[in-house]
Amino acid sequence: MKALLLAGGLGTRLRPLTEHLPKPMALVGNRPWLEHLVLNYREQGIREFVIAVKHYRERIQSRLGDGARFGVSIQYAVEKELLGTAGAIKNAEPLLGERFLVVNADIIHRFDFAAALRFHESRRGLATLLLTEVEDPSPYGVVECEPDGRIRSFVEKPKREEAPSNRINAGVYIMEREALKHIPAGRVVSIEKETFPLLVRSENGIYGYPIDGYWMDMGTTARYRQLHWDVLDRRFPLALGGKEIRDRIWIGEGVQVGQGVLFMPPVLIGDNTTIGDRSIVGPYTVVGDSCRIGSGVRISHTILWERCKVRGGAQLHQCIFGSGMRVGPHILHEAVCNRTLEVRG
Ligand code: GTP
Repeated sequence: MKALLLAGGLGTRLRPLTEHLPKPMALVGNRPWLEHLVLNYREQGIREFVIAVKHYRERIQSRLGDGARFGVSIQYAVEKELLGTAGAIKNAEPLLGERFLVVNADIIHRFDFAAALRFHESRRGLATLLLTEVEDPSPYGVVECEPDGRIRSFVEKPKREEAPSNRINAGVYIMEREALKHIPAGRVVSIEKETFPLLVRSENGIYGYPIDGYWMDMGTTARYRQLHWDVLDRRFPLALGGKEIRDRIWIGEGVQVGQGVLFMPPVLIGDNTTIGDRSIVGPYTVVGDSCRIGSGVRISHTILWERCKVRGGAQLHQCIFGSGMRVGPHILHEAVCNRTLEVRG
């Protein structure tokens, strides 16, 4: 069975990190999320992927290629114009089989795929939507189901007090090819707003399958940051590079640590990074591969992507910096920048 990963959106809510990058390529624990996603599904037995791309597709294609590096095959369905979540699936139709998995590639999740597939087969619906429970469903689409899981209705972005349940569409679906007949070709179609409400009324209907593993939509900087804290606290057990030298202190290969450096857990340091004398790194800090951190730097609650240079004396708190940033000896709080917004000392 193939997995179709939707990765063509603009990622506007995660700007400026996504100014020149598809959102699913944002680094999570020092590796593009899309790579983690392919590897996670490979572990679950999926070997064939289609990635639906549009914005900055070359960033995805040059990094993931034909998938051989990951022991899988990857094909690309390219949109000339953004077609929306269902339009993108319809556009990929020639590359898909009778039954396939669809994944919003910006959703961080893990679930038992084989169990979900058994549920889907037993219900014979046109699609099975994975459902996850959230504390506040108001930014999402809430799903109401019959006792056997058949979906009765959707309530888009309800007021918190009016939400019929806390179960939302997790952005991961098992679909039958038959469902694609209900998606018009060549125009923008939203799966949440248009396709699923239509399929609810079809004869075979669609079903909801609750999952209880970790789930996070990394679409905003607040959630992207929280995701990292969850990774560092092992609430989400993502495979991290490097060696755990002490409880929740991971140090990559080839890292050079100066005199008197203090790591306050949890901390993840990428490969080939240098940290100058007397710097204090952590808690809740991720430093990417090949970064240069000067002397006497203080970094906490911060995520630095690869190849960042931080001058001696800088203090960074609650910042997120994209690849290749240069940071002068400033005190920065809650700054979110990518390489186009250089902060010089
Ligand atoms: P925002 O602009 O911040 O809302 O982000 P987005 O539109 O990129 O993402 P959204 O959360 O709306 O979409 C969920 C997933 O579907 C993301 O991984 C997107 O990349 C992807 N996606 C959304 N719209 C399209 C589309 O028109 N085509 C393709 N191929 N993928 C899409």
